Amino acid sequence: MAMLINQEKEAVRAFWNQASCGEAVFLDQETMEGYQTQLQKRYAVEPFILPFANFDGSPGKEILEIGVGLGADHQMWAQGGAVLTGVDLTDRAISHVQTRLSLLGLHSNLQVADAENLPFSDETFDTVYSWGVLHHSPNTGRAIQEVYRVLKPGGAAKIMIYHTWSVVGFMLWVRYALLRLRPWITLSEIYDRYLESPGTKAYTRGEAMALFSQFKTVNITIELSGGDLMSSHVGQRHQGVFLTLAKRFFPRGLIQKWMPGLGLFMLITAQK
Ligand SMILES: C[S@@+](CC[C@H](N)C(=O)[O-])C[C@H]1O[C@@H](n2cnc3c(N)ncnc32)[C@H](O)[C@@H]1O
Repeated sequence: MAMLINQEKEAVRAFWNQASCGEAVFLDQETMEGYQTQLQKRYAVEPFILPFANFDGSPGKEILEIGVGLGADHQMWAQGGAVLTGVDLTDRAISHVQTRLSLLGLHSNLQVADAENLPFSDETFDTVYSWGVLHHSPNTGRAIQEVYRVLKPGGAAKIMIYHTWSVVGFMLWVRYALLRLRPWITLSEIYDRYLESPGTKAYTRGEAMALFSQFKTVNITIELSGGDLMSSHVGQRHQGVFLTLAKRFFPRGLIQKWMPGLGLFMLITAQK
């Protein structure tokens, strides 16, 4: 069992070591200008990250970010004056964020580490932040227990994980189940096989509440991602002429008006 989980985690690491999240689409050069452009594009497509994280709201507080990726959010935490620690499963992400912060004269304690085995003592952080990460780890429940363990009493977890009932999930199901005449393939299998790293998971609100049940309070909101609206990439595995055409004619206004609850992003704020 442990060996299976290790193999799964190595597959996740190998996937994100090929390219960090958004690298292929948003980062054209590893310079200050390149990283700034990536940051602007990120918040233009997904502006709701800013009020959710509230990067300026914790000067002097101990913040841990799990799964830093290219590091736009990590840069924002550093600029907001947090006492910052960041981890990622891949050397690639850590190296990107070290370069990014040093170009800007910012500081964080960065290291390669696994969300399921955080190398920190109990009750170390005021806030643990993680955007789009824990659903990639084979044992998401264990990672959330780790978040709880390293938070100080009264501290806050701000976590985004994927939501099962999403437009992205439905589109991938049509593409990989219905059009291949295999409608019995479930949404879980679709996320597992076709959205980003192998083994990716998504959760209903009820499942998320259960994952966070040890926390004192839990608040959940759903947001339409750039993928749901086809306003950015649909995971970094999907490209091509059909996708380009579909993006052009996609009824994003209708989806925003009538289906705001069918977003891929589940934003969870939980207090210990
Ligand atoms: C979709 S990217 C998100 C990166 C960044 N948070 C963002 O929003 O752009 C997922 C990241 O999670 C990292 N990751 C996956 N499993 C992890 C784990 N068990 N521990 C730490 N990081 C992990 C990957 O290496 C990758 O950098």
